[in-house]
Amino acid sequence: MTTNCAGCAEASEKAKELKKIIAKYKDTRGALIPVLHEAQEVYGYLPLEVQREISLGLDIPLAEVYGVVSFYTQFSINPKGKYQINVCMGTACYVKGSNEILDKFKTRLSIDVGDCTDDQKFSLDACRCIGACGLAPVVTINDEVYGKLTADDVDDILDKYEDK
Ligand code: FES
Repeated sequence: MTTNCAGCAEASEKAKELKKIIAKYKDTRGALIPVLHEAQEVYGYLPLEVQREISLGLDIPLAEVYGVVSFYTQFSINPKGKYQINVCMGTACYVKGSNEILDKFKTRLSIDVGDCTDDQKFSLDACRCIGACGLAPVVTINDEVYGKLTADDVDDILDKYEDK
């Protein structure tokens, strides 16, 4: 079959990759988690269509696949942005105002927690304590850690990434 658009070609490449991953683990016990990991590496997240393929390919009920995906925080059902913003909502950060910081990100990006901007540049998540409570309240963007923040810092932080 020939594909005549870049997006279609990419989708069919990914679908081929997924088939290979499923075939590689098909007869292995406990295959679901490694397959989900590898599929997420290919797609960047685990949309329902991908979960359905995995369910059919491994002969595991879709409800079970979905249960595992939604249980483990390392799996995501929504697409992630080029810059993944995580606002810590652990106790130390929360008492120091992480909620206002999260609200500011939501307003500035016009997205909710778990969503991604239309241009796929930013995604926003709230997370549990990341073990940097001395810097509370803490936000991470990919591998970058920002500490002792106030809601007023959000504009400056985002401006740095807008220019990238
Ligand atoms: S509570 Fe936020 S880093 Fe620990």
